[in-house]
Amino acid sequence: MSEPENEKKPVMKGLVLSGGKGTRLRPITHTGAKQLVPIANRPILAYVIDNLANAGIKDVGMIISPETGEEIKATMGDGSEWGVKITYIPQTEPKGLAHAVVVARDFLGDSPFVMYLGDNLIGCRIDKFVDNFNSSGSDAAILLKPVDNPSSFGIAEVAEDGTIERLVEKPKEPKSNLALIGVYIFSNAIHKAIDEIEPSARGELEITDAIQRLVSNGSPVQSQVLIDTWWLDTGKKDDLLAANTIVLDEWGKRDIKGSVDGESEITGRVSIAEGAVVKNSTLRGPIVIGKNSVIKDSFVGPYTSIGDGSKIKKSIIEHCVILAGAEIDHVDRIEDSLIGRDARVVRCHNKHKALRLMIGDDSVVEV
Ligand code: G1P
Repeated sequence: MSEPENEKKPVMKGLVLSGGKGTRLRPITHTGAKQLVPIANRPILAYVIDNLANAGIKDVGMIISPETGEEIKATMGDGSEWGVKITYIPQTEPKGLAHAVVVARDFLGDSPFVMYLGDNLIGCRIDKFVDNFNSSGSDAAILLKPVDNPSSFGIAEVAEDGTIERLVEKPKEPKSNLALIGVYIFSNAIHKAIDEIEPSARGELEITDAIQRLVSNGSPVQSQVLIDTWWLDTGKKDDLLAANTIVLDEWGKRDIKGSVDGESEITGRVSIAEGAVVKNSTLRGPIVIGKNSVIKDSFVGPYTSIGDGSKIKKSIIEHCVILAGAEIDHVDRIEDSLIGRDARVVRCHNKHKALRLMIGDDSVVEV
């Protein structure tokens, strides 16, 4: 016997925002999609979907832009790798986070949903946050984290008892340092709140303003402050290296699938993917090495990720992110570096001592 219509509780869905042009990352990757930047050899979006799937969410809408949508689809597929169903939803113009919810209205129906910014990497699971929301009867729940530069974020002013007093998008004179980290849960009440707001000074429909509208209307809005975990903005080189270091440190595993010869020494949490070949080299984890890579006569030190199909020969590298297809040959020592896809760093065996460079736009070389 089916349940009466009014007793059916809609199941929580996921809405991942993966639009935008990602220009901040030039020239790190060929892709414009900042959500696909690899951290420990997995795109940031893979961690986002891990987290939603772990919270029991099976139905995920993914907002994509005309610029980077195809690459995102090709990388993430239908979601079956995570046991979820991904529905791609095009947002043809970047008109803001709340506008993305408007675009996803048909997909969302009246379900509650977790909205997750696809370039966000956080060090905790969200299942408890989802459970709390489900049992609270709130219309919105937000995750907050203290930051040093509150003017760059949506900021929450929170009373001592945890009640949200006010939310402001990128305040010039912030009254709090608690930033909205880009993971939100909403009931269907958010749609009406979005209908009631106007575009901000930057011309976007801000989700922060829509949540403020809920607060002003007296709707229950919960918040939780992340204290013991990290949250990373992965837009720039040092952020990317920091994210790579933390993910390898906390989640890195020893898992050797590729081949390692008897002259090599592997210490600690080193992951070597299928088809990779390690010869006469010393590897000290945590490290990940992608499929079909070759490491020969080299030392690879901790906190290094080497992408698929890379070649490292007669070189010493440590604390680096090397993207797929790159080649490093005869280089004495590379540290704290980000090497782009298919890039080559090679020693030239020429008597004439000089650097010979072909460097992409916005690159930085420290010699
Ligand atoms: C967006 C939100 C902001 C939030 C931030 C988190 O900012 O508008 O409220 O704090 O994400 O990363 P944006 O990245 O669009 O500047």
